[in-house]
Amino acid sequence: MIDEKKKNQSWGGRFSEPVDTFVVRFTASVNFDQQLYRQDIRGSLAHAAMLERIGVLSADEHRQIREGMQDILDEIERGEFAWSLELEDVHMNIEAALTERIGTTGKKLHTGRSRNDQVATDIRLWLRDAIDAIADELTRLQQGLIGLAEREAATIMPGFTHLQTAQPVTFGHHMMAWFEMLDRDYDRLQDCRKRLNRSPLGAAALAGTSYPLDRQYSAGLLGFDRPTENSLDSVSDRDFAIEFCAFASLLMTHLSRASEELILWTSAQFNFIHLPDRFCTGSSIMPQKKNPDVPELVRGKTGRVNGHLVSLLTLMKSQPLAYNKDNQEDKEPLFDTVMTIGDCLRAFADMVPAIEVRAENMREAARRGFATATDLADYLVGRGLPFRDAHEIVGKAVAYGIGLNRDLSEMTLTELQQFSDAIDTDVFQVLTLEGSVAARNHIGGTAPAQVSAAVERARTRLLQRP
Ligand code: ARG
Repeated sequence: MIDEKKKNQSWGGRFSEPVDTFVVRFTASVNFDQQLYRQDIRGSLAHAAMLERIGVLSADEHRQIREGMQDILDEIERGEFAWSLELEDVHMNIEAALTERIGTTGKKLHTGRSRNDQVATDIRLWLRDAIDAIADELTRLQQGLIGLAEREAATIMPGFTHLQTAQPVTFGHHMMAWFEMLDRDYDRLQDCRKRLNRSPLGAAALAGTSYPLDRQYSAGLLGFDRPTENSLDSVSDRDFAIEFCAFASLLMTHLSRASEELILWTSAQFNFIHLPDRFCTGSSIMPQKKNPDVPELVRGKTGRVNGHLVSLLTLMKSQPLAYNKDNQEDKEPLFDTVMTIGDCLRAFADMVPAIEVRAENMREAARRGFATATDLADYLVGRGLPFRDAHEIVGKAVAYGIGLNRDLSEMTLTELQQFSDAIDTDVFQVLTLEGSVAARNHIGGTAPAQVSAAVERARTRLLQRP
């Protein structure tokens, strides 16, 4: 005779022996899905309200469910709720606790519902909350970048291609490049939210239910734009989680690039910026060391976030309709992605406004790198030379300067005229670093005036956010 108490209360009816204890642990998700408790209760309350509306629950039963759920919520938040592995997941733990409290009425809550549409609803609600928090943190980081760009709109640094000095740019321009990457990430995040925001509740196990559910009503109560269209798709779709992880991977790609630059710039070899001590740590053996651990960790965490995207894509690949237990594996990658990018954004949003710029070192690096060579070539073109000839002439002048450790702007007119007699006194206006950046004066260019204008436009864009 099977011990009735050992059977799962929610589905044990057709079972003739208790589940193997290893299988209980292997199939349970409560250890990680308990963090869906708020969304699970919210979803149940919307479902119960809808059941009352269509006459499946009486007003009194609905009230008992509301009060019971409030009790459970409080108990969980006080840390006193006893989660049980035997009850498998967050859904059955909460439902069992409800029945324990309010008796038979608790058993009516699951009318016209399955854990399949329940969990699909919970994750969407959970991810929607997470998206809103991440959007705020992303905005805070972008505000920091705007502030820094404004402060350093005219600060000259070498711009790089191939990590070799190319042309002078301003530090503010560089910060606004980071801003633009993150701005696309923000758009992608909102785009994901838009497609996510539909209610699967009412799809039940896979086919819908025989109760006249008002799906529009429960969707509205949960802040969803509308119910999902197809019950089979509703319980099996995890596109939103994949889209979110794709957003997260691109975000981390951007943060890793910014991290890499911060790491380079804080090194003694570049010495372009200073990161306050509170964002760095020391070495246990080398007393002189101050390591940029925060950007290094952000760069490193990109790996796990990319991994989670691949996990979810692989999880869903070839899955037949509709719900499969595989889908329980969606949660840990998704939860970890949210936590990781939340931490990385926070680290960056705190760090960016604290970046101290070493303007003299940046300027010196631009000067040493012959960053205005293109400007001299453009000048010669202005004097009627074909660009390829101008390129050749300037190359020779640079070689001469390297020998003497003198920048083009530090040569005398006579020295410069050895390379071309088209050069005249007005050449010095274009050879200065300031002249070079100021000349790139169009939308998207590095001229300080353009950086300030870009900052203004960016600020307006942020103000238009919800
Ligand atoms: N814990 C499950 C999950 O996360 C809930 C849904 C289970 N449904 C089922 N029919 N076994 O996916």
